[in-house]
Amino acid sequence: MGRSGAAGDRMGNVAVSRLVVVSNRVAPITEGEPTTGGLAAGVMDALKEKGGIWFGWSGEVSAGAESLPNPERTVGAITLYTVDLSRRDYDEFYRGFANGALWPALHYQIGLSRFDWTEFAGYRRVNTLFAQSLAKLVRDDDMIWAHDYHLLCLAEALRAEGKTNRIGLFLHTPFPAPQVLMTVPAHEELVRAMCHYDLLGFQTETDRTAFADYIVRWAGGDALEGRRLRAFGRTVHAEVYPIGVHVEEIRAQTETPTNRRTATRMRASLLDNLILSVDRLDYSKGLRQRFGSFGRFLQDYPTWHGNVTFMQIAPPSRADIQTYREIRRELEAEAGRINGRFAEVDWVPLRYLNKSFPRNVLMPLYAEAQIGLVTPLRDGMNLVAKEYAAAQDPEDPGVLVLSQFAGAASELDAALLVNPYDEAGIAAALDRGLAMPREERCERHAAMLAVMRRNNLDTWRDRFVADLTERLSPSHAEPGLATPASTR
Ligand code: UDP
Ligand code: G6P
Repeated sequence: MGRSGAAGDRMGNVAVSRLVVVSNRVAPITEGEPTTGGLAAGVMDALKEKGGIWFGWSGEVSAGAESLPNPERTVGAITLYTVDLSRRDYDEFYRGFANGALWPALHYQIGLSRFDWTEFAGYRRVNTLFAQSLAKLVRDDDMIWAHDYHLLCLAEALRAEGKTNRIGLFLHTPFPAPQVLMTVPAHEELVRAMCHYDLLGFQTETDRTAFADYIVRWAGGDALEGRRLRAFGRTVHAEVYPIGVHVEEIRAQTETPTNRRTATRMRASLLDNLILSVDRLDYSKGLRQRFGSFGRFLQDYPTWHGNVTFMQIAPPSRADIQTYREIRRELEAEAGRINGRFAEVDWVPLRYLNKSFPRNVLMPLYAEAQIGLVTPLRDGMNLVAKEYAAAQDPEDPGVLVLSQFAGAASELDAALLVNPYDEAGIAAALDRGLAMPREERCERHAAMLAVMRRNNLDTWRDRFVADLTERLSPSHAEPGLATPASTR
């Protein structure tokens, strides 16, 4: 495997080392191809500008291949290295532990979590495999930034390979309350492995507090000054970095002539009042409850009949996992029931689209919608909420109806916040949002815009990288030596 040409970079006056990003999913990096998932969209945007290496799974399952790296590819300033997974790795690591046990538990859906020690061993094996491939690639002064719940054991595996680089992890999902995490039998192994990182980044203070709570109350560890935690003989910095979006770029995307034409064409086929939702087809997104709420809205507020369309875009995701197949079946049935009950010859209230759209189609569509309806049962951040708000015309914006359990709610509290389990509450918020006077819409939107401008995607990346830059590798670190830049 060759060395990347991506050179070290400069942030302000501080020279920073080469950035090596590791994530399970490496985005479909071809321009114009949809990236359905906040991680891929966020990481690609964050790397595009400053460049670096991006290492991860190719998305391919190759028979028997014990993961020889694929040839490197270069896209702009990013050099991509990917490995295939074997069928066994895919079944045990991706389909099994990561998405069958860990993802539901991280999203508080413990009834859907299925744990198996063999699959957990497969998860560790793939983390080790990634680490072994990476070990051949990284230089001593590279900074390694791992992403998400697939790689909780990566730093531990890299340390086992003798790597003393600075290694950080950003968790895009929620981190649950200890009692919820502890329903995963391997919880201690996971948290112990997480302590091998130098820096752990969470989306919200709630997530960070849950992790700190586990360390202090259940791992016999200590909370030290400077946002550091000590447990399992290691010290790790834990900080909050809410992921953001490129606010101005999104608004600009709604205004290009081609995108405007697309939007006008779509608009012509829709009614005046568009309620829009965009989610991967995932049970954590609250789609079942949302469809129920829309049914309740049509029942309780009949004045809107014939005058409103609810469009749900839901590209299929993880379709070979049973729980995902079930939710898809249920939603198809529920969409049929709602339209069967309320549709008229000249009005179909619900449009349900099971496919993904590129961003140049999504952004102008967001701008056309009177309501952005974002009601996950739990979500790390939910970038769709931020994208919807960023896409609005500040002179005549739509209304964001947002779950209180999305990470975005801690910043976007000027949205209409709802409990995603409360169908009557969501129905009332839809009625209120559709009837909301322009002045109130503008005020709420301006407040959201101000928060998103202060903490955009660049801020997220720069804060994480700056804090990781200041970390000493744990083999050298002494308590009290380093304080995260962002807490000063
Ligand atoms: N997305 C897309 N095309 C689609 C659906 C979604 O490009 O058809 C993008 C969307 O714009 C957002 C991301 O996928 O940037 C979804 O991120 P989010 O944080 O909302 O949820 P996740 O999928 O990461 O759970
Ligand atoms: C979320 C997760 C990502 C994941 C994405 C798509 O955004 O946080 O880690 O890549 O969903 O899911 P998939 O299983 O297709 O990678």
